[in-house]
Amino acid sequence: MDREALQERYGITGESAAIRQVVDKIMQVSGTDITVLLQGESGVGKDVTARAIHALSARKRNDLVIVNCGAIPEGIIESELFGHEKGSFTGAHEARKGYFEKADGGTIFLDEIGDTPKNVQVKLLRILENGEYFRVGSSKMLTTDVRVIAATNKDLWELVREGKFREDLYYRLDTVKIKLPPLRERKEDIIPIFRKFVTEFSSKYDSVFQGFSDEAKELLTSYRWPGNVRELRNVAEQLVVLEKSQFIDKDRLQKYLKGRQHLGSTDNLPVLSRGEDEEFRQSGPSADNGLIYRALLEMRTDISDLKKMLAKFLYSTFTEKSVKALPSAIPRDIDPNDISSHLREQMEGESLGISRPAPVQFEDEDEVEKSDLEEFFAGNEIPSIEEAEKFLIEQALKRYEGNRRKASEALGVSERTLYRKLDQYGLQ
Ligand SMILES: Nc1ncnc2c1ncn2[C@@H]1O[C@H](COP(=O)(O)OP(=O)(O)O)[C@@H](O)[C@H]1O
Ligand SMILES: [Mg+2]
Repeated sequence: MDREALQERYGITGESAAIRQVVDKIMQVSGTDITVLLQGESGVGKDVTARAIHALSARKRNDLVIVNCGAIPEGIIESELFGHEKGSFTGAHEARKGYFEKADGGTIFLDEIGDTPKNVQVKLLRILENGEYFRVGSSKMLTTDVRVIAATNKDLWELVREGKFREDLYYRLDTVKIKLPPLRERKEDIIPIFRKFVTEFSSKYDSVFQGFSDEAKELLTSYRWPGNVRELRNVAEQLVVLEKSQFIDKDRLQKYLKGRQHLGSTDNLPVLSRGEDEEFRQSGPSADNGLIYRALLEMRTDISDLKKMLAKFLYSTFTEKSVKALPSAIPRDIDPNDISSHLREQMEGESLGISRPAPVQFEDEDEVEKSDLEEFFAGNEIPSIEEAEKFLIEQALKRYEGNRRKASEALGVSERTLYRKLDQYGLQ
């Protein structure tokens, strides 16, 4: 397959030297079993690259198992990766396969590898070296045949120097590195990628894009794109939906870029400010649609935040008690910043061959000790989402004695989001 065909097939747009190098490397490594390390900021295309490598490899008929090492709580990451035996810890009522076992014959994609705890890093090193591992609670050595692709948005060498990442594992992973530069360092890719998204969304939403001015084009190119291609995609989607049949000039575009300098979740959305915003002063259906759409986007983000909070809370409450498939409840490969793809995945179901979260199941609910959460739900009524959210925030703050950084980490939301929620619920 030549470069163009590959880019077309796996949705890798761009003509920059950087993209060409990435594609060349994909072609070089996909036929081998060599370990690959993908490095780049969030939203640059690490997932896309990993999927292309797997799909082009001889392992394509077997699974690509995606694991977000940064999203799994420290206490259970080992059993998630390597599996566990029945009775190996309180609550382990059944033996369970780990991701390495599920990926046997296929590929495992270890995203956010820099967040793996050090005791697990030793085990990763061993499995990378000779495929050997032990389930938690077992002394029987197992072997697996997997190809490893790892990704990080951190500087792993920096982590090594800080003593947070093992040097031997670093060298083992660093054999082939594919660097994906941020969009602002390959500006020539911005317009082609933007055009591709606009075309896709126009056909999806059955809308005709009216084009954009030279100044708008310049703005697209000069903007920093802190969320990289993912952010560009979201902007394209919003323009197609909200600016239906409008010619996009600089001012119109600006609205979708302002307030987007940070990487929070809802912070990335255009500001909802009735007073200042020209669009909201006008009345009529299109203004209403805009408001509704933005409100929906915010809600979607809030719900995904809330899901993450709940999953983390349930972990800490129940792991010591009675859990069967609970670990699979955490959304592993969904980035709350990637709102549109999150929703898409929910609506369109699962991509083939990729492991997805299973529903939460309790082994024997009667045996579960009553937790705060259950008591909270045991009242007469199911609380509203706001009440539940407020409750979780209060619990987290209580547990971490008001330390907001720790509380936000425990809840799995950014500190900014936590501050916003505190403000929203008047919790200080
Ligand atoms: N070169 C590219 N061309 C087209 N779309 C891309 C490109 N790189 C990334 N994307 C899209 O941008 C979004 C984010 O990419 P992803 O691979 O999930 O980034 P990362 O894993 O680095 O955070 C996805 O929707 C992906 O399809
Ligand atoms: Mg990713």
